Amino acid sequence: MPTYILLIGGPGAGKGTQAQVLREKLGLPQVASGDLFRDNLKRQTPLGQLAKQYMDRGELVPDDVTVSMIRQRLQQPDAAGGVVLDGFPRTQPQAAALDALLAEFGGRVNVVLYIQVADGVLLERLAGRWVCQGAEQHTYHLLFNPPKQAGVCDVDGTALYQRADDTAEVQGRRIKVFFEQTAPLIAHYRERGLLAAIDGEQAIETVTADLLAALSART
Ligand code: AP5
Ligand code: MG
Repeated sequence: MPTYILLIGGPGAGKGTQAQVLREKLGLPQVASGDLFRDNLKRQTPLGQLAKQYMDRGELVPDDVTVSMIRQRLQQPDAAGGVVLDGFPRTQPQAAALDALLAEFGGRVNVVLYIQVADGVLLERLAGRWVCQGAEQHTYHLLFNPPKQAGVCDVDGTALYQRADDTAEVQGRRIKVFFEQTAPLIAHYRERGLLAAIDGEQAIETVTADLLAALSART
């Protein structure tokens, strides 16, 4: 049976950072809705252009568009054994659609890892973040996780950039949207006995260790 692991957390909580490590450790692909939208935008697809209108404002892309993109991604052969979902689902309708979708694949949500980080810390994380231009969108932080050479990705050598939605104004909006629209999913998954809450305000390696411990207790 395929394994589906969800990562939930506010903007800058460390979902992408941890999903990249879990991918290596568990051998499951990372499926990040935000990365998929950014990849579409880079390729100037209609989906990318549509998503940009919402992302630039820090709003969520409509559920039907997001669900259909995830559906297509989960149907790819490399996802047959399961995936680590980073940033999806983010609304109640997305969570319901995911249940239906995974049932089609003979699976279900196995565990939901909530990376808990206070608002002030989220802002500090986003302010110092730099991302690479490679397909895997490797993530650095000026203070907490600097690249070996300034401005260059350690892994694929591409130049680092700051995301268009990492301006102070849009950051605040994204955090508000998280608490309004996505945070209710925490209670939803807790009630179903699927949630593991992890203290995300620790060193990156410590958060990884806690996530792996929570996974081995539940999968
Ligand atoms: P998305 O790309 O998912 O952005 P987000 O949720 O705002 O989260 P981030 O990617 O900003 O943060 P992260 O948790 O991945 O943190 P990271 O690891 O980078 O979505 C962008 C947009 O796309 C949305 O606003 C929306 O418009 C749209 N979208 C996406 N999914 C959607 C959906 N399902 N439905 C509708 N719309 C959707 O870490 C942040 C920084 O902190 C880095 O610099 C990192 O190095 C550093 N860091 C990480 N961990 C630590 C640590 N433990 N200690 C110190 N520093 C750390
Ligand atoms: Mg991310």
